[in-house]
Amino acid sequence: MPFPPRFLDELRERVTLSQLISRKVKLTRRGREYLGLCPFHHEKTPSFTVNDDKGFYHCFGCGAHGDAIRFLTESEKMPFTEAVEHLAHLVGLSVPQMTADDVKKQETLHNDLAIMEAACAYFQEQLFSARGEKARQYLQNRGITKEVAQAFRLGYAPSGSGLMAYLTEKGFSLSVAASLGLIVESAEKRARHDYFYERVMFPILNRRQKVIAFGGRLLEKGEPKYLNSPETTLFHKGEQLYALSQAVETIRKKNQAVLVEGYMDVIALHSAGFTNAVAPLGTAFTEQQLKLLWQACDEPIICFDGDLAGRKAAVRALYRALDILMPGKSLQFVFLPDPFDPDDMIRKKSPQAFQEALDKAQSFADTLWNTLLENRSIDTPERFAKLEKDVSDTIGRIKDERVRTSYVREMKNRLWRLAHQRKRERAAVMFRSSGGILRPTEDRESRMMLAYLICYPEQGQKILETAFLPQFQTPETQHLFEKVSQRLVENPDITGAEMKKYLTDEEETVLPLEVEIIEKSDKDPITVQAEINKWLDSIRIKTLYQTKKEKLKLFAKNQTPELWQEIKQITEEIEKLEATE
Ligand code: UTP
Ligand code: MN
Repeated sequence: MPFPPRFLDELRERVTLSQLISRKVKLTRRGREYLGLCPFHHEKTPSFTVNDDKGFYHCFGCGAHGDAIRFLTESEKMPFTEAVEHLAHLVGLSVPQMTADDVKKQETLHNDLAIMEAACAYFQEQLFSARGEKARQYLQNRGITKEVAQAFRLGYAPSGSGLMAYLTEKGFSLSVAASLGLIVESAEKRARHDYFYERVMFPILNRRQKVIAFGGRLLEKGEPKYLNSPETTLFHKGEQLYALSQAVETIRKKNQAVLVEGYMDVIALHSAGFTNAVAPLGTAFTEQQLKLLWQACDEPIICFDGDLAGRKAAVRALYRALDILMPGKSLQFVFLPDPFDPDDMIRKKSPQAFQEALDKAQSFADTLWNTLLENRSIDTPERFAKLEKDVSDTIGRIKDERVRTSYVREMKNRLWRLAHQRKRERAAVMFRSSGGILRPTEDRESRMMLAYLICYPEQGQKILETAFLPQFQTPETQHLFEKVSQRLVENPDITGAEMKKYLTDEEETVLPLEVEIIEKSDKDPITVQAEINKWLDSIRIKTLYQTKKEKLKLFAKNQTPELWQEIKQITEEIEKLEATE
């Protein structure tokens, strides 16, 4: 890269990508993006998009993806340098000369990468040499074919300090090799030896497929099982993902990434056709790693080991992502059966078993909810309130306002449903233990009316004509009554079954017990009518008593004959109604 990165950034910034591309592809505007026929594969319906804000094009058909420079190198087959000069000319930027410092940095980087590449080649050579016998055997036992070993450039670091000798012979500086974590040297730089020995080697590649670090696994039991390169100028492990360069194309194409814990899991998955698998590198999943994945897909799937450690790590990933969720950008979670890791699933079960596990991935909201409910009892008001507080504190951490608001709504719903479910369960227990007789609740009559309206809409219509509309104790039953009445007005011929279908799950939870009682009794139309009348009368009586009480209070303050007359009338009416009961 003979250009300073700052310059390339500015260049990308200045180019309007849609203008550049529309010289070759006919683009039409669609919202914030442009759409056209993909120039990289043959298609009849457009799936090629251009986003000026992001400076990227992306094809949902073939996965082609890149910026302005990439567009020219791919579609015009221009060499990189020429593409950059072409764009610079287009936007009126002069191509800067590299400063002496830039040149030096460039050379250092070049040289560092060359050493890492040499080390990788050495390890690969060792694996397929006579000394690599044990390591080859090991890989074979783990089901890794030669082809897969070569595709991932796996290698072997034998005992001794062979790498040191190899690098010296190739003319590389050993102190630079030490700074890259390949060689360990004592403080006085007298004693040196190889950093990795007797390990199967997994090279870690950057986005441009250059080797920047290694992970090495012991062949036998021992500690540490995996040894990773230390942090170097090339390698910042929190910012890299194992196998991302190989996986990124599939990730884009499928709009799905699978994040697993280990190197071996990634390799097993890729060999079984899950070429969208990547792994963090012996660290907890970081924010930067998540953002890397979000560049290529919307909801990466976390699929850690099925053991306790794996579950805990998944929950940590969840909380790390929580703060930075964005509209459309989230995570999903797969929990494998304990103690399987993805590698075990593939080998001891089958790739299909793993696919099935993926298909059952849980949404972020579900996982968060389950996590919040785990190991907690909510059987007292205080405990339930604590749950409410924890839910609210947790989602309060979401920085994006839209996502946060959406979560507030979602969690409110879930809490509400949970509270009602508990109420219902308690009522059901009471109902059963009382031998079918419900304890009277305050708004029992109105709830029964509502239940009749739902189960027998035809006969229930009468309820809507009464002057004494049921009084509901909760906004939920009130809402339900309004909804059901409205529906009845729209469609007077509606059947009970249709009415029930019309209600959402949530609405059904408001009074299922009463509905259950009515349905169980399976009455003929005449009895139903009588029942409805009975309940209507008791609502009337109840309302009349209420009114009488209020009037008496007024009368105590202000004794007018008119008021007394009214009270007398109400009393008579009550007596009449009670007599017919
Ligand atoms: P695991 O021990 O679950 O790895 O650690 P694994 O891939 O299942 O290992 P085997 O080969 O099948 O037994 C998961 C990841 O954690 C990191 C490595 O990246 C490993 O792949 N790790 C683990 C280390 O960095 N050091 C260790 O000592 C152990
Ligand atoms: Mn494993």
